Amino acid sequence: MTILITAGPTREAIDPVRYLTNRSSGKMGYALADVAAAKGNRVILISGPTDAALEVPDGVDFIPVESAADMYVAVERWMAKADVAIFAAAVADYRPVEFVEQKIKTVGDELTLKLVRNKDILGSARGKFLFEGTLVGFAAETENVVENARGKLLKKGCDMVVANDVSRKDIGFDSDENEVILVFRDEEETVAKADKHRIAHSVVEVAMGMEEDRQRSVSDAANTNTNTNTNTHVEGDQQKIL
Ligand code: CTP
Repeated sequence: MTILITAGPTREAIDPVRYLTNRSSGKMGYALADVAAAKGNRVILISGPTDAALEVPDGVDFIPVESAADMYVAVERWMAKADVAIFAAAVADYRPVEFVEQKIKTVGDELTLKLVRNKDILGSARGKFLFEGTLVGFAAETENVVENARGKLLKKGCDMVVANDVSRKDIGFDSDENEVILVFRDEEETVAKADKHRIAHSVVEVAMGMEEDRQRSVSDAANTNTNTNTNTHVEGDQQKIL
């Protein structure tokens, strides 16, 4: 299978020396890429800027990006090649309306930044990029974790959303450990607290299983169609012979 993964934060430039970003180490996305490659998949890792200490796993096609707009373009370009897409990136929801070419000087006691909404990359997968494979999103929540995650699953057309409770200090963000709830359309399943590699194992395994089931039902449907067509043919021929 080919698995596309987004990871890390994005950077939204304000001026040549400043940017807006999200709290994300990229560890979860890189662990997913590592595990997916180890399971024999082709992996396309599209990542925002992460700590240099985080190494790109062996055997992974790496596409570095900076802003949410760059990530959108890269995902649009590569998504058609993927069977499974896992969106672990912490994409900045807003960017400055304009990039100021010269460094903004420190004048006055207040500075107002005007922001504009970035495109929802995960939310574009079905409607815009016409992705038909297994789609997995992440949801960082501070309350009503399962309800909010399921809301995102339905809104963005996902098959599974990996939900994190980011109000907990012992897991998530910079931590090496995480505890997640895999949220599906009609049920959910908690993956007990473990290091991010173990969590990645569960996520990749479930996603690959869902994709295998999907591909099987697509090919079963195609076979049923072929059989129906063949029958019609035979009947036609028989009529001709008669
Ligand atoms: N995501 C994305 N593009 C964006 C924003 C988010 O691809 N511009 C993806 C993330 O990678 C993640 C999922 O969408 O897989 C959930 O992100 P989140 O920011 O929590 O979703 P929102 O719909 O923005 O909800 P909220 O109001 O909670 O921020």
